Amino acid sequence: MIPGSRPMKHIDRKDLYTNLEARIQYLHTFLDFSSNDIEALIWGSKYIKQLIPAIVNIVYHKLLQYDITARAFETRSTSYEGPVDPNLHDNSPQILHRKMFLRAYLAKLCSDPSTLEFWEYLDKVGMMHVGRGREHPLHVEYVHIGACLSFIQDTITEALLSHPRLRMDKKIALVKAIGKVIWVQNDLFAKWYVRDGEEFRDEMEQPEFEKEGYLNGKKILADIEDAPALNAKSAAGVCPFTGKGSGDADATGGTCGGCADKDDDCKTVVASQTSEAK
Ligand code: HEM
Repeated sequence: MIPGSRPMKHIDRKDLYTNLEARIQYLHTFLDFSSNDIEALIWGSKYIKQLIPAIVNIVYHKLLQYDITARAFETRSTSYEGPVDPNLHDNSPQILHRKMFLRAYLAKLCSDPSTLEFWEYLDKVGMMHVGRGREHPLHVEYVHIGACLSFIQDTITEALLSHPRLRMDKKIALVKAIGKVIWVQNDLFAKWYVRDGEEFRDEMEQPEFEKEGYLNGKKILADIEDAPALNAKSAAGVCPFTGKGSGDADATGGTCGGCADKDDDCKTVVASQTSEAK
């Protein structure tokens, strides 16, 4: 070995396709996903959770702006070319139902990423969008997945960076950690779409049909119905960090003063939502 150089790590190519844990390990080392990131996510989950209702509304508002993405909520496919129900809107029953799952998924992103189960669920979410693991298959083409993940990352980053009271070092740690998780989620989507490693197909895990929100027979999105803060009907005009409207009083009679000392208030997330709604 050349003095001063580090030993080269061996990565088994076949493992990347046939062993999820090995793939996650490789991504973790490549991205330097360390205990610092885990600590940041656990510590910062309270801030991200407060953003969830606003993020969910913004994401669905975006997905309903295009016929090609909106049609997935009626036909379960983005490649169907027929007409789309023009009445589908942010508060249609099937959209409210889907919002509940996205809220629960984002809450799951705020849980402990040091367990394999955390990544297994992200992998399952990827798998179900390529027509597998569901009795009624869902087909969402990758272009929309990549765009949507980037949109979610952008929204979270902007909201965290514009938090009025978080210290800059905390913001940096949280933005870095959540960015890594989202990029691993991106890989766990891409893995089901790309044909790399096709020669190992027979040895890849074969998905079984499962109910929504379940992983290996266990309910994984525990808080679908029982997290009131995550079930807010609409986050329009609501502070993404407190869930309160500017005039709303809290339990102690106070109002949201979180952003009062800042020039642009909570406008970043809320404004992008309202400007899009025009
Ligand atoms: C990019 C980020 C995305 C994430 C993180 C995501 C996440 C999820 C989750 C968590 C579920 C339910 C999971 C479960 O059963 O446990 C789901 C289902 C679904 N997703 Fe996505 N999704 C994404 C993108 C999209 C896009 C771009 C579309 C449409 C264009 C879409 C359409 C759907 C539909 C229609 C279902 C319902 C599936 C069913 O009823 O079985 N998703 N998604």
